[in-house]
Amino acid sequence: MSSTAGLVIPCKAAVSWEAGKPLVMEQVEVAPPQTMEVRIKIKHTSLCHTDLYFWEAKGQAPLFPRIFGHEAAGIVESVGEGVSDLQTGDHVLPVFTGECKECAHCKSEDSNMCDLLRINTDRGVMLTDGKSRFSIDGKRINHFLGTSTFSEYTVVHSGCLAKINPLAPLDKVCILSCGISTGLGATLNVAKPKKGSSVAIFGLGAVGLAAAEGARIAGASRIIGIDLNPNRFEEAKKFGVTEFINPKDHDRPVQQVIADMTDGGVDRSVECTGHTEAMVSAFECVHDGWGVAVLVGVPNKDAAFMTKPINLLNERTIKGTFFGNYKPRTDLPSVVEMYMNKKLELEKFITHRVSFSDINRAFELMLRGEGLRCIINMGE
Ligand SMILES: NC(=O)c1ccc[n+]([C@@H]2O[C@H](COP(=O)([O-])OP(=O)(O)OC[C@H]3O[C@@H](n4cnc5c(N)ncnc54)[C@H](O)[C@@H]3O)[C@@H](O)[C@H]2O)c1
Ligand SMILES: [Zn+2]
Ligand SMILES: [Zn+2]
Repeated sequence: MSSTAGLVIPCKAAVSWEAGKPLVMEQVEVAPPQTMEVRIKIKHTSLCHTDLYFWEAKGQAPLFPRIFGHEAAGIVESVGEGVSDLQTGDHVLPVFTGECKECAHCKSEDSNMCDLLRINTDRGVMLTDGKSRFSIDGKRINHFLGTSTFSEYTVVHSGCLAKINPLAPLDKVCILSCGISTGLGATLNVAKPKKGSSVAIFGLGAVGLAAAEGARIAGASRIIGIDLNPNRFEEAKKFGVTEFINPKDHDRPVQQVIADMTDGGVDRSVECTGHTEAMVSAFECVHDGWGVAVLVGVPNKDAAFMTKPINLLNERTIKGTFFGNYKPRTDLPSVVEMYMNKKLELEKFITHRVSFSDINRAFELMLRGEGLRCIINMGE
């Protein structure tokens, strides 16, 4: 046990007081972990679009003050009652969705959508007792996605922590706790392209490029990248994308352009934009008879799309995925091993690094659409 176990820990956290306003570095108090909870020292964290989306709070009920952050890596400081599979010093990735190992989803081989610990964007408190573990002078600060990693210490449900190889560099594998695993798993676990096949990737942000990385690892021979932003193409070359299409350069639907390039359609497609027109194109561009399209992007909640049922009857398949179908505790340790074995390349996703005190710079970069992942170093 650590010397701080059972005590309140005062530490630095980047607090978001108001929607869209720069985070403020504050001294917060982090309460000890309760039943089935773990307190961890965050070593590195990175910024993902979901943080930005809830910080801007344009599309949902605002919940402030709040500590954002969900892509991270850390070390266990202490554990609460009932936690038997983690101990002080373990290296962990906190994940925005969990694995209780008891519910029907956790028991199913096919699902990672745990009933108990599934993502909840509205909750600002811990599941155990409906309270927050963060406060400033007694004032409650809300949690985010059960992770709140923009803090030197945070408390997470033990079911949302993947225990990983202690030799893995935390400043790199931290990006596996959200976006990169999502794209990678969408290809490797759901689209499952065969060696030598063709794969179309819609949207070449971090998630789409991780899907491309999955296609490269699976041995796809053609990886076609589709994006409306031509600036994305240069970066995508590093990810094994072999051909590029900007839908704006064509006066016919991009699915037709793809069908012409590939003798009837690609074997697999992965949509990583969140826009319905790309979802329709991603589905309609796969080959009849065997093509599989996988939707990853999160659309506006009222969005709907249309396609002709004959496209399905012609033996095309459309699937969706949440977190790349990875079960966080069971599967993430092996994704870390893929990096350790040099099968998976993570360095090329990391385009910027800042110290914790400069965290607002990471927000500025993302708002300007610059780079892929900015690692925030929490320091000692
Ligand atoms: N399903 C999940 O579990 C899960 C998890 C994390 C992220 N996501 C979602 O994945 C999506 C991608 O995330 P990201 O961080 O890479 O986003 P991003 O904004 O960095 O990248 C999206 C890219 O799509 C391009 N784009 C937009 N509309 C397009 C269109 N019609 N055709 C072609 N390209 C188009 C944009 O130019 C951009 O380059 C988001 O919708 C995000 O919410 C899903
Ligand atoms: Zn479960
Ligand atoms: Zn994320």
